[in-house]
Amino acid sequence: MALDPKIKQLRELKEKSKQGGGEARLKAQHDKGKLTARERIGILLDEGSFRELDAFVTHRATEFGLADKKLLTDGVVTGYGTIDERLVYVFAQDFTVFGGSLGRAHADKIIKLQELALKNGAPIIGLNDSGGARIQEGVVSLGGYADIFLRNTLSSGVIPQISCILGPCAGGAVYSPALTDFVVMAKDTSYMFVTGPEVVKSVTHEEVSSEELGGAATHAEISGVAHFSAESEELALFTVRTLLSFLPQNNMEDPPTIVCHDDPLRTESSLDGLIPKNPNKPYDMHAVIEAVVDHGFFMEVQAHFAPNVIIGFARLNGRTVGIVANQPVVLAGVLDIDASDKAARFVRFCDCFNIPLITLEDVPGFLPGLAQEHGGIIRHGAKLLYAYAEATVPKITVIIRKAYGGAYIVMSSKHLRGDMNLAWPTAEIAVMGPDGAINVLYRRELTDIDASTALKDKLVQEYRDTFANPYVAASWGYLDDVIEPSQTRPRLINALEMLQNKRDENPPKKHGNIPL
Ligand code: HXC
Repeated sequence: MALDPKIKQLRELKEKSKQGGGEARLKAQHDKGKLTARERIGILLDEGSFRELDAFVTHRATEFGLADKKLLTDGVVTGYGTIDERLVYVFAQDFTVFGGSLGRAHADKIIKLQELALKNGAPIIGLNDSGGARIQEGVVSLGGYADIFLRNTLSSGVIPQISCILGPCAGGAVYSPALTDFVVMAKDTSYMFVTGPEVVKSVTHEEVSSEELGGAATHAEISGVAHFSAESEELALFTVRTLLSFLPQNNMEDPPTIVCHDDPLRTESSLDGLIPKNPNKPYDMHAVIEAVVDHGFFMEVQAHFAPNVIIGFARLNGRTVGIVANQPVVLAGVLDIDASDKAARFVRFCDCFNIPLITLEDVPGFLPGLAQEHGGIIRHGAKLLYAYAEATVPKITVIIRKAYGGAYIVMSSKHLRGDMNLAWPTAEIAVMGPDGAINVLYRRELTDIDASTALKDKLVQEYRDTFANPYVAASWGYLDDVIEPSQTRPRLINALEMLQNKRDENPPKKHGNIPL
């Protein structure tokens, strides 16, 4: 039987919509080591699950020769599908159509998707590969970006929003990804900047490559804009899938629980001897995290930015937890501006999405110095304080070693509504470290150079004997228990179970005023 002409026409149009900017441009995309929008969606989603929307959309612009240049999809493929059988919305900019640039119709497709995602309570993923605002459409394309930014903001804290950067991302275009919860960049083929190398050169006379200005390494290590940098596009997309496995669909749901094959009562004797005898000697906090969490699997976030604090997702007896841990190997685990910002944003993300927080603490304090003070460590450190204080998810803290000064308070102390505050016997909790404290308390006595060394050693030892233990804090009830390090995993799991129905609220308000 001959094919119905209407069905034939439909099939032809659909086929045409899949051809993007044509064979030559698709080849050019591959030649740059990049995948096409549809190939990316194919890798990201469960096989065969993608349902496309708005394939017939074209722009309505007429200026600069656009009237006779209309391509189906208008440079962005949008739709929904599943990842591990859970609904997600996805848009993928198609660089082969007008360089993936964003005009009104292109923007409207993304906006439609944002509204669907928000109403239906499912994550939205953006695969960005675009020359930015479509120059021929002028202010209309700027309006399109603004409408997207507004919806990014309204969706914040309601549904997870994830951005993959898989090509250029210039101008205001970087601000939609920046408003989302996580930014994943692919190495070598992606970059993000507000103004490109040419503009930088003309304004500041700095000569800089795109890679140095805004490549994956730059944003993963220096600026902190990227949460993950992946070796390839495929790995970037795989990162999104793994990340979503830890997250709930929206802020009204709990994160998914998976069947756990790692014994919840497993003890780890290696932890009993982990802390060096010398309190100034570092050890790698990753060893603690990996020994404690299910199967040692830890998905670290912003691993290369401010590595003096570690953040990331793991599971305990199959339940998602967010981990914040000081890292003694880097700057002795001190809290500085970047570490405070990094941890604060993560704490707030977990609180938005009902993810319990586990804090592993070994922190000598906030980093002193002119650069930090002038950079606003007071303002930035306050963000972390604020984030922990306002968080109402279950909060469990383990003081591993040092908990000095303001940093003791900040790192999810009992006073900030910590629900279960534990310490290892190696914990040292005081206003400041022994050296600093003795210098303040005995400045006059220590002026005699000859007598000072022996006296100071004696005083430091005395201070250590008094404060370098968890028992003073425990005697005040500021710790709920002191535990053997080997017992950490079962104790954390037990505490999480005890807290699984926790309810806590903040006073009604429009929103708080976190020190930004
Ligand atoms: C219209 C664009 C475009 C744009 C690229 N193209 N960017 N068309 N508007 N913004 C088109 C090109 O004309 C070309 O069309 C095709 O896309 C591929 O571009 P190429 O330049 O050939 O590719 P490549 O050499 O890989 O360079 C990619 C690029 C470069 C680095 C992105 O195209 C570029 O610099 N584009 C302009 C970037 C920019 O300044 N955007 C505006 C930012 S300001 P043909 O037909 O030849 O294939 C902004 C404001 C937003 O976005 C504000 C929101 C608040």
